[in-house]
Amino acid sequence: TKPIQIAIDGPAAAGKSTIAKIVAEKLGYIYIDTGAMYRAITLKALQEGLNLASNEEVGELLKNTVIDLQPSENGQLVFLDQKNVTEDIRSQYVTKAVSEIAAHEAVREQMVHLQQQLAHGRGVVMDGRDIGTHVLPDAALKIFMSASVEERARRRFEENKKRNIDTPLEELQKEIAERDKLDSEREFAPLRKAEDAIFLDTTALTIEEAALAILKLTAERL
Ligand code: C5P
Repeated sequence: TKPIQIAIDGPAAAGKSTIAKIVAEKLGYIYIDTGAMYRAITLKALQEGLNLASNEEVGELLKNTVIDLQPSENGQLVFLDQKNVTEDIRSQYVTKAVSEIAAHEAVREQMVHLQQQLAHGRGVVMDGRDIGTHVLPDAALKIFMSASVEERARRRFEENKKRNIDTPLEELQKEIAERDKLDSEREFAPLRKAEDAIFLDTTALTIEEAALAILKLTAERL
């Protein structure tokens, strides 16, 4: 059967990447974490001391940047101008700034183009905020994944514990809610469920249950 494109969108820390990785592996598809791409350009903008509010400055910077995603055992490695930044892009410092960078039109135009090239003609599971609405509008399966903000903060807290990051739960919840607000209210390609996306509330689901639900929906489309 012909491979399909699967778009997974939703708010921060809803479990998109964890579940998308499992689904991609089961299907033998490639997994593309578009959030990692926005995080990578944010890291560079911070390192270079750019004016983060400037669409032009950040857009120019991105033109002269190479962001590369490579599959690895644990999902995906992220390279920024040949340097491995897989860990660095997860820092609070980047997390707090990324939504401002991702709101710029010049950034979104280039990223969407790059993401469409990466997905072209292959079986792909892509996660982000605007995949079903802008990047892969013809995807055969679109999922809008969410969970309560309390549950999302709790999951991020547990995930952080394993990586020795000890941001308090209340701070995580605040940061997540703030990022959702910025991502939903921005002018260009805001976070939104595509009309033809299937809503998947993962609040009461385990990772395995959520992955299975998506695999079932995929099987119906193959
Ligand atoms: O998915 P993740 O939480 O790593 O995404 C980080 C940020 O990147 C989001 O909060 C959002 O501002 C931005 N993003 C986006 N469009 C995407 C993926 C991520 O604007 N497709």
